[in-house]
Amino acid sequence: MMNTILAKADKAAVEKAAALLAAGQIVAIPTETVYGIAASALNGAAVKKIFEAKGRPQDNPLIVHIDRLEMLKGLVATVPEKALALAAAFWPGPLTIILPRGPKVADEVCAGLDTVAIRMPSHPVARAVIAASGLPLAAPSANRSGGPSPTTAADVLADMEGRLPLILDGGSCGVGVESTVITLAGQTPVLLRPGFVTKEQLEQVLGCPVELAGAVLHQLKEGETARSPGMKYKHYAPKAHVTILRGDLDAYRAYVSGHAGPGVWALCFDGEGEGLPVPSVSYGAREDDASQARELFSALRRLDEQGAERVYARCPHIGGVGLAVYNRLVRAAAFEVVEL
Ligand code: TXA
Ligand code: MG
Repeated sequence: MMNTILAKADKAAVEKAAALLAAGQIVAIPTETVYGIAASALNGAAVKKIFEAKGRPQDNPLIVHIDRLEMLKGLVATVPEKALALAAAFWPGPLTIILPRGPKVADEVCAGLDTVAIRMPSHPVARAVIAASGLPLAAPSANRSGGPSPTTAADVLADMEGRLPLILDGGSCGVGVESTVITLAGQTPVLLRPGFVTKEQLEQVLGCPVELAGAVLHQLKEGETARSPGMKYKHYAPKAHVTILRGDLDAYRAYVSGHAGPGVWALCFDGEGEGLPVPSVSYGAREDDASQARELFSALRRLDEQGAERVYARCPHIGGVGLAVYNRLVRAAAFEVVEL
């Protein structure tokens, strides 16, 4: 166990982080989506430390974070027109683009694939750390593998204390769910993970349809291969057993009332907990999918802290940013959805 320092992300702390990264260490940093654990994407030994700290399966590749387009040189083999169009529209911001990999990126980042995932974050602290180190940074979400992603520095500390030397505290993340992942490595663009940048926005910029990978909404079938390795793993799972209830508020209330008991909690939208026979945690406003994205992971962590055993969750609207919310929640629920 090493000593973990939690530091406000001021100039001195950013410089300390950059020095650690240049020396082959790992550091937790805030991004606009969720907190990440960063290492130099050029240093295989450093990247290995990320996998160890998270307990992450070796075959699940990482996203490389850059702060300007010139950094792409050597990281990717080609930059197609479509990638430039997406970069112009959404970078810096919560979009990851998968491209054919270049020679500079460490093998450990790509986990055996011939592609690499790239994103240019907009968070000022993430950008400052990349700029100060001059390094492209491989960074997965800063949770223990399988658990909800962290959206505050305190959440990172809860998962990672003793496993890395430094956590930069940049406050709570504005987006709250991980970046949208699109691959441009094949014939047609495929959305591998929904996020704050929506399928509709991507299609508008690309001027063509974007296919939705099957695993976004449904469990992979036995023997089916994941186009994104991350999709085959158990994800975002709190300790509690979560069930999504899909229907209107009256039907939700009736169902929860019929299933009340010790250890039962409601995961609902703001203001809906009143009148329920069980305690509740809310995750945003019913008509505001961005607020649901921002609060979902934090709500799942609060339920665990409260010792919730059985959680009945309100179903978000499955479209726009809500597609990202549902994608995370349905995994937290191990795909258990009750139609009311
Ligand atoms: O918002 C985010 O993207 C956050 C912050 C820290 O930037 N990072 C993040 O990383 O969510 P991670 O490792 O938790 O998720 C990366 C996802 C995984 O599902 C992984 O399988 C997929 O991206 N991925 C990475 N490289 C890939 C590749 N070459 N081909 C297909 N999928 C890839
Ligand atoms: Mg993750």
